[in-house]
Amino acid sequence: MKIVLPYAGIVLLVGPSNSGKSTLLKSMIDNKEILSSEVVSSDEFRVLVSNIEFIDWRERPKDEADCLFDEYQNISKEAFSMMDSVIEARCRLNKLTFVDATHLHPDDRKRYRSLARKNHVPIVAIVLDIPLDTLIERDEQRDYSRGKRRIKQQYQVFKREKRFIKKEGYTSTYLLNETNNIELVRRSNPI
Ligand code: CTP
Repeated sequence: MKIVLPYAGIVLLVGPSNSGKSTLLKSMIDNKEILSSEVVSSDEFRVLVSNIEFIDWRERPKDEADCLFDEYQNISKEAFSMMDSVIEARCRLNKLTFVDATHLHPDDRKRYRSLARKNHVPIVAIVLDIPLDTLIERDEQRDYSRGKRRIKQQYQVFKREKRFIKKEGYTSTYLLNETNNIELVRRSNPI
């Protein structure tokens, strides 16, 4: 699939955990199609604000999991606030920014559409639609598993949201079932 990227603006990756958002961006960096400085990731901002790299959600008593969840919510709030400041600064400077987070909730996507509109830049959505079985299989194999329950929940949300995304008004929307054979075309001037 051919993906045409604007000169500046926001590229939102959309997909549940394990859909391959970070892997796709890493391969674009490795292929020198994009710069690592063009990618902002919620995981990295969580580390920046809290030092916490990862929370293992598996096999925890409910009380402990609830407490951790509250902490995780606080961390996420601060992380996204910092991340959005960076994205907005880059929009003002007419740079392209890839946002690596799940973007499953409509409010999150809306926030970035508003940010793009406010700064007069385009916004592109790259949506990774990967079967649940594959998401679970990858989760079992990765170093820091997100946990089957969480993956299933995210997948349900994604399934519900998928049909709305195309109509939400992005400059372009790309729906991918797999991430092989992507031809990336970058606009080389602001027009
Ligand atoms: N993976 C894979 N094949 C792909 C893409 C990803 O096997 N085509 C594996 C990766 O090697 C990794 C796991 O799936 O072990 C998660 O990939 P990642 O790119 O990190 O997925 P994300 O969607 O970024 O997940 P998260 O939102 O949890 O960061």
